[in-house]
Amino acid sequence: MKKSLLVATGLLSVALLCGVVMADKGEDSKYSTEDIMKKAFKGKDALLGKVVKGEADEKESKLFLEMVESLGKNEPHKGSEESWKEKTSALLAAAKATVEKKEGAAEKLKKAANCKACHDEHK
Ligand code: HEC
Repeated sequence: MKKSLLVATGLLSVALLCGVVMADKGEDSKYSTEDIMKKAFKGKDALLGKVVKGEADEKESKLFLEMVESLGKNEPHKGSEESWKEKTSALLAAAKATVEKKEGAAEKLKKAANCKACHDEHK
């Protein structure tokens, strides 16, 4: 009885661990979602804010695009694959357009980077 419980717990932890590792980072993705959120999205000094305001230099813009691209390759923590793809590809398209200084792109990027909408569904 005790032993089987131990085995069951062991198996469960392995399964959970795999789930976490897989959820965190897609196979050919360079950054984990957590990293991307912390560096590119969170706070006034985050890359997103700078890119939206047109204050990001070339290096920052490039890093931001790389991170947004990675985000789309990562798995969402929850929610449907389709919704995740839709949100992250809209984000990438808007980010690219903003870095290229297309008109109205920054507004689109702000909308695509709706923190709450994405967190409600996928975080
Ligand atoms: C396209 C979807 C998406 C958008 C847009 C988004 N997030 Fe997230 N965010 C996530 C997911 C998924 C997680 C969970 C990732 C994890 O914990 O590994 C997360 C987690 C976070 C975290 C916790 C990170 C940690 O330490 O684990 C913070 C902080 C965060 N987001 C901030 C923001 C802010 C601020 C914005 C808006 C400017 C934003 N996010 C927009 C998907 C998104």
